[in-house]
Amino acid sequence: MNSSPKLQGQAALVTGANSGIGRGVALALANDGAKVVVNYVAAPESAEEVVSEIKKNGGLAIALQGDVSREDEVKAMFELMVKEFGTIDILVANAGIQKDCNFEDMSLEDWNRVLDINLTGQFLCAREAVREFIRRGMVKERSCALGKIICMSSVHQEIPWGGHVNYATSKGGINMMMKSMAQELAPKKIRVNSIAPGAIETGINQKVWSTSAALDRLLTLIPYGRIGMPDDIGKLAVWLASDESDYITGTTVFIDGGMTLYPGFSTNG
Ligand code: BGC
Repeated sequence: MNSSPKLQGQAALVTGANSGIGRGVALALANDGAKVVVNYVAAPESAEEVVSEIKKNGGLAIALQGDVSREDEVKAMFELMVKEFGTIDILVANAGIQKDCNFEDMSLEDWNRVLDINLTGQFLCAREAVREFIRRGMVKERSCALGKIICMSSVHQEIPWGGHVNYATSKGGINMMMKSMAQELAPKKIRVNSIAPGAIETGINQKVWSTSAALDRLLTLIPYGRIGMPDDIGKLAVWLASDESDYITGTTVFIDGGMTLYPGFSTNG
């Protein structure tokens, strides 16, 4: 555990925290003193592994199952969280999926599933978090904000992505949802921001980094010359959730090794 933890005593929910970026964020928040709910939808053993890892490091965590696209399950999860941890101070709305397909063959089912989880799921969790922030009221000793919401976006809120129209659309939607929420909720002292990762080494994009040929191709898109790690995102999430970033709301922080700098133009155009 960090010797001067930035999130001491705060309660955090990380959705989709049993793998990938969510796992990295859950470990990092716990390492900075937050009590963490590790949400998952399937594979409870992977969520329990994250909980054990946190406990091993002297932190506090519980695993809670819930499909973020289902209103009843989201409500039930928040009720359990409030029962266990008293409240919520930090939401990291991270759960997301890809269902990739060329456009003309994309099924309505795959379109809807991606939008339901990646966008509606963030709406449902953010709404419950805001309701709880307001019910609980300000606790100045814990944070100068009433609550903090971090939406997990992607470089593809900006970079169009053929073959992934459903996914890119969901991330574009997150950008406007986040900014509109931030504008509405700032007077209540609720901060809402997004993290937009580039290529991070996780299961969702395994095929672009797991062979050296694929990785070489990927690195042509990353000026900084390396793939990102879940812990890169974890460290940013800690900072965005902490009072160190208290004056930041309605912003997307890109964390992508320069992927959004159009590296194809460095020698062309
Ligand atoms: C996607 C990854 C992809 C990365 C960069 C992320 O949002 O989930 O599959 O590697 O963007 O293209």
